[in-house]
Amino acid sequence: MNADRLPVVILISGRGTNLQSVIDEVHAGRLPLDIRAVISNNPDAEGLARARAANLHTEVVSHRAYLDRVAFDDALRQAIDRHVPKLVVLAGFMRILGRAFIEHYAGRLINIHPSLLPKYPGLDTHARALAAGEREHGASVHFVTPVVDAGPIVAQAVVPVLPGDTPETLAERVLKEEHRIFPLALRWFAEGRLSIRDGRVLLDGAQRPEQGLVGAAT
Ligand code: GRF
Repeated sequence: MNADRLPVVILISGRGTNLQSVIDEVHAGRLPLDIRAVISNNPDAEGLARARAANLHTEVVSHRAYLDRVAFDDALRQAIDRHVPKLVVLAGFMRILGRAFIEHYAGRLINIHPSLLPKYPGLDTHARALAAGEREHGASVHFVTPVVDAGPIVAQAVVPVLPGDTPETLAERVLKEEHRIFPLALRWFAEGRLSIRDGRVLLDGAQRPEQGLVGAAT
């Protein structure tokens, strides 16, 4: 039944709204993924309940159970690979992953980040964008490479920064766009439409606009 769907494993750490956007698109028949497992490093992640509600297989690989990052990365890799995914999706996964882990999934590890990369890698992106007086902010979907939040960009969405914005109001505006471009980028991957040349993502073999696709959906 799932033969035409791409096998994926999704990693989360928290509330799981991006996971939910993916689940919703799969259920709507617009995103051909076979979600083989949702794995969290945090046993209390709200996203685990979302996954269970969608009858998905869930697992917890707690980073606290391992002595160091290498041991955690190894355990996580083993848990993932038991499901033989062709794509591993970081949907609000908040642990830094080591080089060996990332290289193991080269070209099949995708992340969503709440900024217009290369601006504001790392944490507290909304507060930093506000403090810098940015007039635009947004979200990026990118392939993961060993440098944090620096891999080739698949899709971006821009939102305005409005007078009176707080980190919370700005985050909410960005999150709405995350929920749009994340499933879209995963669909492109699942349909085999993405490739990487010279560190840039191509869609259907064509060079992308500056910094990846901004805005429009296809
Ligand atoms: C999102 O803003 C995502 O971009 C970032 O972490 C947040 C996760 O939110 N990587 P959620 O768990 O998907 O609701």
